[in-house]
Amino acid sequence: MYPFTPGSYAPRNSWYVAAFAREIGEDLLSRWILNEPVVLYRKEDGTAVAVEGRCPHRHYPLGASKRVGDAIQCGYHGITFDSSGACTMVPSQSTIPGVYRIKSYPLVERGLWAWIWPGDADKADESLIPTLDEIGFNIPGMIPDAFYSMHVDGRYQLLNDNLLDLSHLGYLHATSIGTPDDAATPEVRDLNDRRLSSRRIMRDTPMPPYHDRSVHDGLVDRISGMDFFFPGFHAGIGESRYPQGHEKAGEVLHTSRVWHAVTPAKKTSCNYFFAMSAPSQARVDDARRRLEPVLDEDKFATEEIEKIISTLDVLPPELMLKSDGTAVQGRRILQAMMDREKAELEGA
Ligand code: FES
Ligand SMILES: [Fe+2]
Repeated sequence: MYPFTPGSYAPRNSWYVAAFAREIGEDLLSRWILNEPVVLYRKEDGTAVAVEGRCPHRHYPLGASKRVGDAIQCGYHGITFDSSGACTMVPSQSTIPGVYRIKSYPLVERGLWAWIWPGDADKADESLIPTLDEIGFNIPGMIPDAFYSMHVDGRYQLLNDNLLDLSHLGYLHATSIGTPDDAATPEVRDLNDRRLSSRRIMRDTPMPPYHDRSVHDGLVDRISGMDFFFPGFHAGIGESRYPQGHEKAGEVLHTSRVWHAVTPAKKTSCNYFFAMSAPSQARVDDARRRLEPVLDEDKFATEEIEKIISTLDVLPPELMLKSDGTAVQGRRILQAMMDREKAELEGA
């Protein structure tokens, strides 16, 4: 499906963020992930688990069911499954048919996030999860925090495209985090087998409207960039310094790290998790308040585009520009991952 080839939806043998770790607790949390209903919860020993959210008996939602110890008892006819997915009780008979089990997903907590592997569990390799060092999580003096967990009514690749093309900052977010230089400055790209990285280095550029001008109200040198860890995690950097010629040239004025996780929900919707770090708790709290409308702009753009593309019978080709290079490369990488999985399945 758009923007991928017909039949291609999302890579399955990959890690995706299922939730912020702090969202997972004693209560059953229902979430669609790669077009499957999933239930997340924390066992009595504190371990977070993820199991299928559909009862195999009559398809009742297990997320709307009841916890009995570490097991889930279906709210319809009481069939019970433990956290490994095994059926432990069928109220209407003493034997448990062998087919009665639900899927249990590999789930790993790292940093602020709980990562799920929707595909073949035997292939779940934790070393494929971006490390905290790789994403700039462990920088001394920076305070990380989970901000928003959102549901977006648009297919996940629209948000990946959004994050792979920061030329939108100066327009969609013109009143907050962007300036026209975000679009006018060419990107420097770098690719390895884990991530696609892009940076814009702007010299003598205005600060985005978002930043406090009480300390410095002139031009700055600014870096804006994003590292896309396939298939759905974006680690961003934003940094402003006093410009050359200033008495404090090179000294950092503003710095932040941002983390966007995009996980397919249903075919045309996704889960979107935003977190960031800043050098003080006051800055983190201020950012949480000020960035909410900014993220709403991205949600708005994604949902309105989804409405248009899902309504048109025939989607005319997109007219690409130079600035689409990173997004096009990101799409190609995901398409190749899906093609590889398909070839493996067909060859199996
Ligand atoms: S639907 Fe779950 S027990 Fe019948
Ligand atoms: Fe944006």
